[in-house]
Order: sequence, then C-alpha cells, then structure tokens
Amino acid sequence: MNVVGYIISYKTNAKARELENRLQQEKAEAFCRKHGLLLSEFFVEPEESRLDYHPLLVKLLNKSSSSKFSGIVVYEFERLAEEEDIRNWIIEEFKKYGIQVYSVKESSMEVSFQESEKKSRSIKEKVRDLPSLPEIVTKVTELVQNPKSSAEDLGKVIAHDSGLTSRVLKLVNSAYYGFPKQISCIQHAIMILGFTTIKGLVLSSSIFKIFSSKNNLVNSLDYKHFWKHSLLTAIVSKKLYKELFFEEDENIFSAAILHDIGKLILDQYDHNNYTNVVINAPEQIYANQVLAAEQKYCEVTHPSIGHLVAEGWNLPPVLADVIRYHHDPLKSEEYERITATVYLSNIISQLTLDCGEFSMDVFDEKIVTHIGLDEEDLSAIFLDIQEEASQLEDLESFFK
Ligand SMILES: [Fe+2]
Ligand SMILES: [Fe+2]
Repeated sequence: MNVVGYIISYKTNAKARELENRLQQEKAEAFCRKHGLLLSEFFVEPEESRLDYHPLLVKLLNKSSSSKFSGIVVYEFERLAEEEDIRNWIIEEFKKYGIQVYSVKESSMEVSFQESEKKSRSIKEKVRDLPSLPEIVTKVTELVQNPKSSAEDLGKVIAHDSGLTSRVLKLVNSAYYGFPKQISCIQHAIMILGFTTIKGLVLSSSIFKIFSSKNNLVNSLDYKHFWKHSLLTAIVSKKLYKELFFEEDENIFSAAILHDIGKLILDQYDHNNYTNVVINAPEQIYANQVLAAEQKYCEVTHPSIGHLVAEGWNLPPVLADVIRYHHDPLKSEEYERITATVYLSNIISQLTLDCGEFSMDVFDEKIVTHIGLDEEDLSAIFLDIQEEASQLEDLESFFK
C-alpha cells in the first residue's frame, strides 16, 4: 500500500521544531517498515501552522479525490486536530476517498523481541571465535566484589599490566579530575577514582581492546565517538543513580560503560551488514531507527547480541540485563532501577555529544514518568553535566 507521512510540530524554537519533525519522520518510517507500507513522501506543515491552523492538511484534504496514495501516517491522531470532533471528521473525510489514516503512537511498533532473540542465536555462531576475557578482568572483578580487599590489593593486580597502569594514571591525571599535582602512584589513583570506577574502566578497556584491534575497516562505527559516548553514559549513570535512589551501586559504572557493547560485536563480526546499518541509521539518538536497521541488515539488534555475549563471558547478570534492556528498561525484571538509569543517561549523553541541546522528545514519556521524573528534572540533569562533558576530550586516549 502506498502511503504518505504527515508531520506537524508546534514548537516555536526552530531547532526544537526540526528535531521533533525528524523524530516524527523516523517513527513514521519505522511504522511503515513494520507494517509493510510503502512510504513515498512526507508532508511537513510549515512554520506558520498552529494548533488550530493546518494549511497543508487542508490542502491534502481538498486534493484527496485525486490523490495517488491510499494512506496517511501521522505520529498520533491528535496531530490532525486538537478537538476530537474535528479529528474524526478529518479521518472520515479521507476515508470517503479511500484514504486510511494511521497513527504511529496508537499502535504498537516495538521490534519483536523474541524474533530478534531467535536470530541472535544464529549470529552467536558467527561470534563463536570471540576471544575470552583477559584474566585481569576476572581478577579485578573478584577483588572489587570482595568487601575485604583494599586499594593495595587492587593496585598490585593492576600494576601487573603495564598498559592498564598507564591508562589508569592517564585518566586520573586528566583535566576531568583536575588535580593540581601529578599522580604517579596507582594506589593513589585507585583511592581518587574509587573501586567502582576502576572496575568499570578495567572491564571496558580490556573489552574495547579486544575489539579495536581488528578494526582496520572503513565505513564502520566511529570508535572515538563510541568510547566517548560510553564513558559519558557511565559518568552520568553513576551520578544520576545516586541522585535518584540516594545510594551508590557498585555495578552501575561497569554496566553503563558496556551498554552498547553489541554495536562493537556487530561491527566486528558482521561488518558488511553493519556498515549498512551505519549508513541507513546514522543518528544514534533515534534508537528505534537504529534498532530497526540492525534488525533489517544484521537480523539481530545490538542489545540482543550484546546480552548473549555478556552471558557467554559470564559477566555479572546485572551487566547482561542492562545491555539487553537499555532501550526498554521497564522490561528488566530484576534490575529495573539500574537499567532505567542507564536508559536516561544514554540519551542525555547522546543529547550532549550529538545535539548540543536538550530535547524532551527523544525520551519515552512512559519510562520517564515511571521513574518519577519530568522534563524539568531531565533538563536540569542535562545542564548539570555539560561542563563535565566538555572535559572529556583528553580521556579518549584511555581506550587506545
Ligand atoms: Fe544502545
Ligand atoms: Fe548508547
């Protein structure tokens, strides 16, 4: 069936309007893909449209007798008209000319999880030769989980790996932590960074190293950006978790820094298909678009494949759960708090690094409300981390 998309935003700020329009387009595209509708073009209301004035919609309605399409996709029925009576009248008028109006929001458009899970098992065959985790990761994880271990114990283990030692020192001496004096002792570094952060960094730098070594391919994931995004998500997650739940969580930093590990796996083990994903869904902030493209080209999404590999590596179940549900946190049965925190931090990190400004439209309202937050809270969190984010630049070298 041949359909067109109808897009309208009431935002007065040009950038916010553009973002909302793009988001609606993305959702309409995903909806059409899922329902097998052939989307030929978008009609975007001009800036002068208001709640009670939709010039383009009126034009479409007037021309509906000669239209070449048989359906219109809108983000939600309310976008046609605020008042229900008028809305229903418009839908009926289109119907008279054989044009069906579809709403993205009023019908479910989730990627079928089970379907994705099934296919990801076959991809797992492909990643059978995935290297096992370095021994140091297991040692550090064990040490950190043991309440009796000290900074000295941890320091000794890290000191055995010269690459890791220099990375930890590089990190603690970076502008981000802003210490006036050079720190050259690994134990001091551990005291400053804290066990949780050290564990996350050891884990992620070991894992990222496994993947970056094979990366001499073109047109793939932007690794520099990937690391920065992962690190910022972890920093925001740690902070946000404390603000939300008034306590610390020893796994939050590790879980958050690894949340997108599935993207590295797809890029390295299904490179050609993943190149298509990157080309067709270049903007990571539109998660639905990214997941749909992964499903289409790789037949598996990054949360599914990441989860399977995390399980295969025997990473703690909370890490595997966050990796699996970071785009759909309310599905996490046991670790909803930590998964929801990573969900929010992931988006805040993307808004910071990719958009440079706050927008509520990219959050799922249902999830935000469930956590007990609102737009004001999120925008305050966003503003709060802007300065920290600007100091991340020199941390990129940590993962190299
Ligand atoms: Fe993700
Ligand atoms: Fe992410």
